[in-house]
Amino acid sequence: MARQVSLGVLISGSGTNLQAIIDAVEAKRLDAAIRVVVSNRADAYGLVRAKKHNLPTKTLDHKKFPSREAFDQALVEILQARSVELVVLAGFMRLLSPVLVKAFSNRIMNIHPSLLPSFPGLHGQKQAVDYGVRFSGCTVHFVNEECDQGPVIIQAIVPVFPEDTEESLGARILKQEHRIYPRAIQLYAEGRLRVVGRKVLVDGLEKDESPVLVHPPLR
Ligand code: GAR
Repeated sequence: MARQVSLGVLISGSGTNLQAIIDAVEAKRLDAAIRVVVSNRADAYGLVRAKKHNLPTKTLDHKKFPSREAFDQALVEILQARSVELVVLAGFMRLLSPVLVKAFSNRIMNIHPSLLPSFPGLHGQKQAVDYGVRFSGCTVHFVNEECDQGPVIIQAIVPVFPEDTEESLGARILKQEHRIYPRAIQLYAEGRLRVVGRKVLVDGLEKDESPVLVHPPLR
């Protein structure tokens, strides 16, 4: 049994990843407690989800701050006041300044809808469709000062079909996001993640060389 890790979840939108994390906590698959959910948008549906589960919420409108740093400083204060250990970016559509990244060094996770380092930035799903790759997926990584470039914790792969749209591929990827994000946080809670340079080492993993995907199939 892992210790319970205190989470601050940052959102900007619908919050389905937040929901997956809430569900994993309630199902006792994730040894975590969500101390606060912060949105930079008052109309984010994720705030409704949080309230349905009696979680504390805050709205912090970035437009009311003179700079990115001032906004991030306010975030740091909210997170520290709630004794948050791990910051979970779940569809939080703001670039982070060093103010936040340094305050929670190797204690911020993000989920991105592509196999990083491919297709960073906005619309990772559309970038994959437009490029014509055969596979895409999602990545949970620790956040460093470069956007979408922090050390990778876990990835899931899905096929991409020629008739896919941003929406159809996005839905396929999102299902996997909901599986891997709680898993990444649980590995953290179990104290099994160690960042060594660019790599995240996972204690106690058995190496398995068998999963190889080919698309289109070899026959
Ligand atoms: C997710 O697909 C997540 O990967 C993406 O936003 C969506 C949020 O959905 N994040 C990014 O693109 C970050 N660059 P949700 O609000 O339903 O969890």
